[in-house]
Amino acid sequence: MLGTTVNPCTLSLFGATGDLALRKLFPALYHLDRAKLIHPDTRVLALSKEHIEADRYASMIEQSLQRYVAEREMDAETVARFLARLTYVPMDFRDTDSFAPLVTLLAREETHIAYFATPAAVFGDICANLAAQGLADKTRVVLEKPIGHDLESSRVINDAVAQHFPESSIYRIDHYLGKETVQNLIALRFANSLFESQWNQYHITHVEITVAEKVGIEGRWGYFDQAGQLRDMVQNHLLQLLCLVAMDPPSDLSADSIRDEKVKVLKALAPITEEQLSRYTVRGQYTAGSSDGKPVPGYLDEENSNTQSGSETFIALRAEIRNWRWSGVPFYLRTGKRMPQKLSQIVIHFKEPPFYIFAPEQRSLISNKLIIRLQPDEGISLQVMTKDQGLDKGMHLRSGPLQLNFSDTYKSARIPDAYERLLLEVMQGNQYLFVRKDEVENAWLWCDQLIAGWKRQGDLPKPYAAGTWGPVSSVALIIRDGRSWYGDM
Ligand code: BG6
Repeated sequence: MLGTTVNPCTLSLFGATGDLALRKLFPALYHLDRAKLIHPDTRVLALSKEHIEADRYASMIEQSLQRYVAEREMDAETVARFLARLTYVPMDFRDTDSFAPLVTLLAREETHIAYFATPAAVFGDICANLAAQGLADKTRVVLEKPIGHDLESSRVINDAVAQHFPESSIYRIDHYLGKETVQNLIALRFANSLFESQWNQYHITHVEITVAEKVGIEGRWGYFDQAGQLRDMVQNHLLQLLCLVAMDPPSDLSADSIRDEKVKVLKALAPITEEQLSRYTVRGQYTAGSSDGKPVPGYLDEENSNTQSGSETFIALRAEIRNWRWSGVPFYLRTGKRMPQKLSQIVIHFKEPPFYIFAPEQRSLISNKLIIRLQPDEGISLQVMTKDQGLDKGMHLRSGPLQLNFSDTYKSARIPDAYERLLLEVMQGNQYLFVRKDEVENAWLWCDQLIAGWKRQGDLPKPYAAGTWGPVSSVALIIRDGRSWYGDM
């Protein structure tokens, strides 16, 4: 069954031979096609500067589908249908004349989606060229991160795009917002009065957000080293998660209602002062170690590395939100490359009961925790206290989970990739899973002051062995508050 709201459109993919397109975007489109969620008349224009014959391009895409789509999901009929939608057009993104073929190709199209899977430096040129060819009115533009490397550069990029497109036609990607469990945060919080009534400083002591990756730099040293983990992961993904956990209930599910609430959280983030930097932040850089039992090189020994780099591959920090709901509740954020496992989770720690009647030695057990597992094994678990089973146990307490594992519970064959959801939402013209300009800017504002502080203090990242949970000082950061990272850890 075709999704009823998906009208036909043409999707122009700028950067169609790049890693993101091959690894994520084409597989996502293929899955949508397979699920019959793309209109039969929807076409994909693949745009890149190389001159490639149509047949050769089609076989390149087929190969990348074989590589990135699970074998059980590959079927010849969908592959053929999907490839038939593709037209490869060589194009110089900075040259207006190069865009002329688009005018003909889009002549009868009402909705055109221009997806920029390119460096942000060319976003402005592409927008200007689309506008010069009279295509701006029918076009929604999709911008990939990173949007700049600080507030100022993000403004330059956003302003260049805004010269030709209104905010209502701009879709800024943060692929974490497309993850099923991340969207579930909205359902969990605002469809369950049980949680929402407890969701504040009266009932919650602290919140942990961990996004750990097992991989290292994966051949992206050049890009990554300019960014570091704060710009690459915190400015966008972790702050978006923090916003979804901390925001007030929106008055409806419209894009602006949700984004208004997220912006309020970003504005309420307390700046971390220079005096607080060494206590509230820890930067790390991985050294040689092991991953899955195999030796792996350190960050400075990766391909194309620069042995002098002071960029961080790990960051832990303690953030505070200055508002009525969250006053006094620290948010501990932690993210790193080359951690022991891939794991993204949010842990909400609830307060102990106000009066204690059980054995004193069990006191440390008694607090409820809500664990929202974003990946892998997507699900939600609420740690509750129960009495241990058995006549010999007396009133001995045990902490056990009330568990909801999404794939078991909903018997879903697969959890869709974030890009499937996001591409579908752009086709439907829904912006609620995309980031508004003021969100990007407020996130940069907060991160910029951290970067400036580290720079002034000459802060260098602390080493940690690949395959560990980061520098020991990241453990000290939370222990200082009488707490520990949940789990491992
Ligand atoms: C990207 C970062 O935005 O997110 C990468 O640039 C990171 O460095 C990736 O590896 C992580 O995404 P996911 O979906 O694998 O958690």
